[in-house]
Amino acid sequence: MQSIKQQLQAVQTLQELENLKVQMSGKKGVLTLAFAQLKNLEGEEKKQKAQELNLLKQEFESIYENKKSELQTLELAKKLEKERIDVSLFTQNKAGKTHYIHLMIEKILDYFSLLNFEVCQGSLIEEDFYNFEALNIPKFHPARDMQDTFYTRDQKVLRTHTSPVQIHTMLNKKPPLRMIAPGAVFRRDYDLTHSPMFHQVEGLMVDEKGLVSFSHLKFILEDFLKSIFGDIQVRFRSSFFPFTEPSAEVDMSCVFCQGEGCRVCSHTGWLEVLGCGMVNDNVFKAVGYENVSGYAFGLGVERFAMLYYAINDLRGFFEVDLRN
Ligand code: PHE
Repeated sequence: MQSIKQQLQAVQTLQELENLKVQMSGKKGVLTLAFAQLKNLEGEEKKQKAQELNLLKQEFESIYENKKSELQTLELAKKLEKERIDVSLFTQNKAGKTHYIHLMIEKILDYFSLLNFEVCQGSLIEEDFYNFEALNIPKFHPARDMQDTFYTRDQKVLRTHTSPVQIHTMLNKKPPLRMIAPGAVFRRDYDLTHSPMFHQVEGLMVDEKGLVSFSHLKFILEDFLKSIFGDIQVRFRSSFFPFTEPSAEVDMSCVFCQGEGCRVCSHTGWLEVLGCGMVNDNVFKAVGYENVSGYAFGLGVERFAMLYYAINDLRGFFEVDLRN
């Protein structure tokens, strides 16, 4: 029995340990047999022997338990070492990175989030009401021609701009509000500088009548463009959108020739980058807002990204080229 105890101290594996346990207290184990022999003894002698055996048993079991947990820990460590996954392998995967359109959207949202504009999202398939009607573009109005587009059979429309998010937001919230809404839009255009799907970011700010003015809009957009494109000049040209009055188109001095005139700016020195204006009262009427004033603006993300990252072919955004 002493030798079994010594062997116990020296075992290296769980298997060896289990073998020893069988030798000790299995059916024909040394201890089992010794306990069986007790029946041949009598009185004091029997009592003493039984005590001895019980002590031995306890001692064996405690060494056994310690040894077992020690070996289990060791074997687990070995197993983990063998099955180790090299997670750094995944970081070397070069296929895939954030798309330029997404990066651009993030930059734009960063600016407006700091000014407490809430990021809102609408749906790509819209009811006529949100995309046109509530934005002061009635049926059969010539303003629809500019955006004549994709309809589903049940007369839903793939949104032609992000402006319907203005309507959803105003119907869901009470003024004052500030929202910024990025997302895909669809138009029936396809040439070198237009694709049938592209992205816009819409902005809207509404507050009590008289609190929001065109000068706020002008300041914000100028500051925004400078924060993205750096040292540029900005100008506002009067324009027309059915959902804003007055409306303006915003140009910035060409980022490639610093306003000298080049191919990108068609030798004008200016690039058109935004549409904006004060929210038309008819839009407020359509959503049931009273005694408020507000401004709205919309921009094309692809155009921004082409200017920001100096990309000269729009199609590159939608093609898969693993080299980039
Ligand atoms: N929705 C307009 C467009 O797609 C842009 C715009 C948005 C203009 C908001 C004014 C105000 O061209």
